[in-house]
Amino acid sequence: MDKFRIVGGKPLEGRISISGAKNSALPCMAAALLTPETVVLHNLPYVRDIITMRRLLEDMGCMVLMPERNTLKITAEDIQFFEAPYELVKTMRASVLALGPLVARFGQAKVSLPGGCAIGQRPIDMHLSALELLGAKIELVGGDVVASAERLKGTEITFDKVTVTGTENIMMAAVLAKGTTILNNAAREPEVVDLAKLLSRMGARIIGAGTNQIKIEGVEKLRGAEHTIIPDRIEAGTFLVAAAITNGALEITDCNPEHIGSVIDLFSSTGVKIERLSDVTLRVESGNLQAKDMITEPFPLFPTDLQAQYMALMTQAQGQAVITETIFENRFMHASEMMRMGANVQIKGNQAIIEGGKKLTGAKILASDLRASASLVLVGLAAEGETIIDRVYHIDRGYDKIEEKLQRLGGQIERFRD
Ligand code: UD1
Repeated sequence: MDKFRIVGGKPLEGRISISGAKNSALPCMAAALLTPETVVLHNLPYVRDIITMRRLLEDMGCMVLMPERNTLKITAEDIQFFEAPYELVKTMRASVLALGPLVARFGQAKVSLPGGCAIGQRPIDMHLSALELLGAKIELVGGDVVASAERLKGTEITFDKVTVTGTENIMMAAVLAKGTTILNNAAREPEVVDLAKLLSRMGARIIGAGTNQIKIEGVEKLRGAEHTIIPDRIEAGTFLVAAAITNGALEITDCNPEHIGSVIDLFSSTGVKIERLSDVTLRVESGNLQAKDMITEPFPLFPTDLQAQYMALMTQAQGQAVITETIFENRFMHASEMMRMGANVQIKGNQAIIEGGKKLTGAKILASDLRASASLVLVGLAAEGETIIDRVYHIDRGYDKIEEKLQRLGGQIERFRD
């Protein structure tokens, strides 16, 4: 299994380009199932989850070509299998994004029910009840969700809780439904907006994406389209922390500062110096870090996918910070690894209390999930001495060659296998 060896203490300096957003790329790839024509996607990050989604589409019968490293051409003309098997769903929950498009276009889908994962239970009950409201019949057979329908019918759906992939799945189902669908309490994340943009290019009629009410006028069929995926706001936020935590200074390019407004505001209030050089470029420099509390919330507030990285930052700030995690119930596994390196973190229910300003020293630590592993790389870069991170396959799911990007900025990090 791959590991990272990091020798910390080096300030990161230079210019870094942000890759496309994995969480936007995945639903956009699934959207290709909605048309027999070709969908071309650019700026896809080269990460494990994208390879898994590609495999899922190919197993179903899609033709997927990769003319360039970050471009895929997907044609779902001849689909023979309407299934996302357990083998793939267990490695990537986002496989459930096949459900909406398959039921909408083919009237059938079988998707293995995702089990609990490292960061909590993460059920898909809201996806299923919304599909039922659209007229699909849902059965649970041997751990699989089996959905069937004649043509789906538009209706009004109110999500109990904000769900990102739930909103995306149901938006993809509703674009081919008969009549109008209204989604209330819809997720407002930039990835939802990006998917709506692609769907609109394919001929869908969607208004309100980016607000909490999305209205979809169903159409008979969709066509092929070409689309460029938005920059990854979580990768951008991770590099903001990387500069701040190593006493470095970075220029972060090919990002969208609009998508990380809450992150920039909070980081600035802790003393990190962030300057907007253009619509796609930020300059970040470390400052005199002061502890600030943080609560994870749906967009536009602070994203749960940067909670672990923010904890890394707070281990080096002066004073006490309280982090409240409101999205996932079990998302503090990185805390115990940080404590092994000298951080002072106490977990109380969904809150983490961090006494900052403690010196970190390298240790052997274990990555437990995607974003946690990024936070461990960050503390490794800030710590004195050598840190070995095991199970970095988690980070490969969502970060495009993170060690190579960090090396180019002067970070001492290498991948090895023993
Ligand atoms: C997406 C992101 C993930 C991010 C999360 C929250 C992708 C591929 N993944 O995950 O990186 O951390 O949004 O921003 O885009 N819930 C239910 N029932 C459901 C659906 C969700 O109870 O049917 C709960 C979840 O357990 C969680 C909350 O709702 O507590 C939000 O989850 P959701 O927004 O659905 O997360 P994902 O879409 O899985």
